[in-house]
Amino acid sequence: MTAPLGVGLVGAGGFARFLTRAVADLPDIRVVAVADSDPSRAADLAATTDSRAVPRWQDLLTDPEVAVVAIMTPPSSHAAIAIAALEGGRHVWCEKPLATSAAAAADVCAAAERSGRVLVVDHVLRYNPLLRALGRLQGSLLGPLQRFAFENDASDEDLDSGHWFWEEDTSGGILVEHGVHFFDAAHLLAGSLPEAVQAMSVSRPDGTVDLVSATTRHPGGLLAGFSHGFSHAHRCERQLMRLDHGTAEVRVEGWIPVRAVLDGWTDDAGADLVAELPQRAAELFAVDGYRLDGRAAVTVEVQRGAGATTAVGRGSTHVVPHHVRAELTLGGAAAKEQVYAESVRAAVVDLVRGVTTGTAPQSGAREGWAAVVVADAARRAAADGTTIELDPWPSATDRLVRTA
Ligand SMILES: NC(=O)c1ccc[n+]([C@@H]2O[C@H](COP(=O)([O-])OP(=O)(O)OC[C@H]3O[C@@H](n4cnc5c(N)ncnc54)[C@H](O)[C@@H]3O)[C@@H](O)[C@H]2O)c1
Repeated sequence: MTAPLGVGLVGAGGFARFLTRAVADLPDIRVVAVADSDPSRAADLAATTDSRAVPRWQDLLTDPEVAVVAIMTPPSSHAAIAIAALEGGRHVWCEKPLATSAAAAADVCAAAERSGRVLVVDHVLRYNPLLRALGRLQGSLLGPLQRFAFENDASDEDLDSGHWFWEEDTSGGILVEHGVHFFDAAHLLAGSLPEAVQAMSVSRPDGTVDLVSATTRHPGGLLAGFSHGFSHAHRCERQLMRLDHGTAEVRVEGWIPVRAVLDGWTDDAGADLVAELPQRAAELFAVDGYRLDGRAAVTVEVQRGAGATTAVGRGSTHVVPHHVRAELTLGGAAAKEQVYAESVRAAVVDLVRGVTTGTAPQSGAREGWAAVVVADAARRAAADGTTIELDPWPSATDRLVRTA
């Protein structure tokens, strides 16, 4: 048994409370200190986590018990705190977005690479069992992604007009603050980063931007669309991620994905694979650190010989005589809070594994940087109506020197 990693939290607001509950039973970490510009919030969370409140976040950088600085403040403060923590020899947990501009995100990424410390950015969808499962089905059952579309009719019921979320200088705007989750999910599922970005936004009469839309073009013939409207009552929230793989479509429900339905046409090997999915659900959904519960299940229908042997799409002939349908569920909408908490827990486990074994995290500094580059380009495209071409992305082995 090694001693748990000591975590110093910066920011003791709503999400810090959620995260500390989600990881409370993890033996590998222990919250040791909490800083917040509002001392009463720091004191409250310190009491809940059996840790110490400290007056300034800088105090965490000289605290011998702090191995990891967890940044849970509003977005515009992330980059400066992350760079100071890395330069102070600490590992970093950074809430999304990694930064509010591409240049600042590149600075954090370069600081992480210089420091040799581990940084995980909380792109929670990377640790979602449904998206992991869909990644595992690519190649065997699902052909190349042609279209990614995310429609987010989100709630603003808890976001009063003075909330920092609406201030672009603090949050980065919707495309940055919330958008990074989905630019990153498209990166994950497409296996590529975009080469061009377009976007538009509209405002309420008081000038508050509450509806945004962006389109990205990826190499290899993929378009991705992202719409976010923070203008709904909680009970009217709806989200749908639609993945068009040509011969198969997947509809993923929930911004925290809780259920996915795959409908498609396939060959003999694909039909055999689908028929076996219910028995392989645990393997299909596996994410280290995520505890599946009894609601996780796969049900399938396989209709062999449901159509002609071949079909043509995008100029190619496909051997797809069999019609298949699969429902992958983590429990549907009722399971959202649990899925969210377990995904955050898995991301923290990924950080611990990176620190203890040196493995690269699934959602590291580069993933955080890439999502902010796309989001920042989308924000600029929405502001001036241009199409923004992105420079070629550095390869994983290049040092990060450009700021896109
Ligand atoms: N990964 C996710 O799914 C997810 C979900 C919700 C929020 N978040 C992110 O978590 C972060 C925090 O969001 P929240 O909803 O908890 O916000 P919040 O407003 O509830 O809490 C922020 C806290 O930070 C404190 N703070 C602000 N500036 C500070 C500074 N410079 N030094 C110390 N403390 C400071 C505030 O006093 C407040 O207590 C944001 O980046 C947000 O985007 C991520």
